[in-house]
Amino acid sequence: MREKASFKVLVTSQKGGVGKSTISANLAAYLKSQGRSVTLLDFDNHGSSSSWLTRAPNVGVVIQHKPLPLDQGGNRSLLDARLHLRRAAASSDVVISDLTWSNSIAGELMFEYDLVIVPTSVSEIELAATVGFLNHHRWVFDSAIHTPPMLLLSPTRVLAEQMDSDIFSRQRFPVRFILPPPILEAQSAKKMFERGYLMDMPDACGQSFIEFGKAVIEAQTISEANKRIRQMQRTATQPRRSVLDRPNSLSNRDLLLARHRAHKANQMGTPVFAPPKAQEIQQPVIGSLVSRFLNKLAAGVA
Ligand SMILES: Nc1ncnc2c1ncn2[C@@H]1O[C@H](COP(=O)(O)OP(=O)(O)OP(=O)(O)O)[C@@H](O)[C@H]1O
Ligand SMILES: [Mg+2]
Repeated sequence: MREKASFKVLVTSQKGGVGKSTISANLAAYLKSQGRSVTLLDFDNHGSSSSWLTRAPNVGVVIQHKPLPLDQGGNRSLLDARLHLRRAAASSDVVISDLTWSNSIAGELMFEYDLVIVPTSVSEIELAATVGFLNHHRWVFDSAIHTPPMLLLSPTRVLAEQMDSDIFSRQRFPVRFILPPPILEAQSAKKMFERGYLMDMPDACGQSFIEFGKAVIEAQTISEANKRIRQMQRTATQPRRSVLDRPNSLSNRDLLLARHRAHKANQMGTPVFAPPKAQEIQQPVIGSLVSRFLNKLAAGVA
């Protein structure tokens, strides 16, 4: 498969109303504000994220509404999505797709993406549905044949009192994931629909969205470093086993994360992500990259 040129992000979940469109539209606006050229590729019929960006003040995101033909069998949705995605990627630094997942979509679609964001509230019922969704697509995130996308499990619509929850440290997830800072629940976020952007809100919810956007940028940095390493591995003339190949040592991604954390810590004087605990490395059910949110949850001091 051709190496991905731009950073491709899929915001998806099988559950309705979890915040996919809010994240898609606002992440597109945030990444544009950070100097990237961005295309929002809205695959959903109702087109909430594309209409948000169309009606709110223009921030220069390219907007495409391409509903997938979910009722036509076979691989029609996969083929359509691939085509639209590749076209969009040819002219943007970042493509963000908004998609309500349906069982009629072939899971292979996820291999087209560098990052899959699955929004979830922290309610037990929604987390259980998220675990079910991830279980179903475990073969994608664990694939040794294709390059799997990174997974960002994104707590959304989190209430202040839920910040004390330790649910992410208790809940068992079937695949490795990154846990970004939570996006808070606020009336102001609802009011922003088609009017403006969460990153411009002066309240805690607005700030939480900016922190989330920064985590996505960190994920992009890691993803691109991973790509470079894979490229180097492919072009190496003398294939010899390195620490990156050893199944029982730290994974490629863990090493990068560790390096990235160290670099960040040097820059900021404070670690952005906690160093990986031995337990996390041996136990793939817990996210490989632990945010301050998870640290606080795990420590019970939020
Ligand atoms: N952080 C937030 N705080 C408060 N309300 C929110 C927040 N994020 C999203 N919402 C609200 O939740 C509802 C669902 O959000 P959104 O449309 O983004 O979800 P969705 O997953 O795209 O839904 P659908 O499955 O219908 O496409 C909307 O009314 C939206 O305004
Ligand atoms: Mg939506």
